[in-house]
Amino acid sequence: MARRKLAIDQATASKDVSGKVYIVTGANSGVGLETTRQLIKQGGHVVMACRRIEAGEEVAKSFSGLKGSYEVIKCDLSDLQSIRDFTQAFLSKHSQLDGLMCNAGFVNMRNQVEHTKHGFETTIAASYFGHFLMTELLLDVLKSTPGARMGILSSVVHAGNPKNRHKVHLDDLNWNKRKYRNIAAYGEAKVANNLYALELADRLKDHDVSTASIHPGWARSNFGSGGNFLIRTLMTVMQPFIKGMTDSNEESAQTSLHVLLSDDAPNHSGAYFSQCSVLYRDKECKQGGWPMKSPNPNATDLETAKKLVNQTYEMVGLEPA
Ligand SMILES: NC(=O)c1ccc[n+]([C@@H]2O[C@H](COP(=O)([O-])OP(=O)(O)OC[C@H]3O[C@@H](n4cnc5c(N)ncnc54)[C@H](OP(=O)(O)O)[C@@H]3O)[C@@H](O)[C@H]2O)c1
Repeated sequence: MARRKLAIDQATASKDVSGKVYIVTGANSGVGLETTRQLIKQGGHVVMACRRIEAGEEVAKSFSGLKGSYEVIKCDLSDLQSIRDFTQAFLSKHSQLDGLMCNAGFVNMRNQVEHTKHGFETTIAASYFGHFLMTELLLDVLKSTPGARMGILSSVVHAGNPKNRHKVHLDDLNWNKRKYRNIAAYGEAKVANNLYALELADRLKDHDVSTASIHPGWARSNFGSGGNFLIRTLMTVMQPFIKGMTDSNEESAQTSLHVLLSDDAPNHSGAYFSQCSVLYRDKECKQGGWPMKSPNPNATDLETAKKLVNQTYEMVGLEPA
């Protein structure tokens, strides 16, 4: 049976967002690029947070003629100083932030642990720690912008399977004590993202800011392209066979756009929103949902989320809120 892909409705896709300001991380590629394009098409101003400025500028040539505007600011999410420089540059120009889409992500294809200069395992560094610091440094501007929204990209992988659910290891977030497994590291990083969206929603419940974690679908993006020759060849050979199970980048941007633009998303602050996906191991999840209950109890526990967040402040060099 063909999958029914979730897509924003016509009213949402034609909403005029002129005058609104958005940040999209990893805006030069895949899901982030198509999220950015649609926001600009609808009149928004998008600050593209890219670790490679030239890649951002290059793709932005395709925005010419669209109603809105953009700027590219450098941000390497695995470097805490780069994130501080980015937020400072943003705040020196903008006094409102209507939507922050923490989209960038990475999976270590080598199955051998690697750490950033700050000692973070590289996958969780880009997905969680970097976005945590960015969001916390932008909290005041989010709180002062009416109806502001924050989304963070998770993945179907966070769910694991009924016999083995990923969880955050609070005593070893950076894989210093355990044998490294890259897919588990990716799954744990995405559990951390679900938990952060949940905790932040709770912390901001008296403010006009909503949060969400997001599974975009199986995007035909550049994701995982850093694999070795064997993996790259295998993926190329498999493309025609898996095409029916995968999604275009436009389709994969729909969930992020729903979170940023729909009237309904803010009614479910802290929730998980998912495109349909054949990759869920839990049958009832395959059709996705806006929002959808994660099948992984480790990704929905507020007490664990609070412990994770408390621990993270110190790790990224912030005073607890
Ligand atoms: N593709 C899928 O099927 C899938 C499924 C579930 C979840 N996701 C999630 O969706 C998000 C978007 O992925 P995608 O599919 O669009 O992949 P993509 O085409 O590889 O795009 C990833 C983006 O993240 C950026 N990025 C990676 N590490 C970074 C860092 N340290 N600092 C700043 N930017 C960094 C990349 O920059 P460069 O271009 O410089 O590398 C790129 O712009 C990710 O969070 C991913 O985990 C993807």
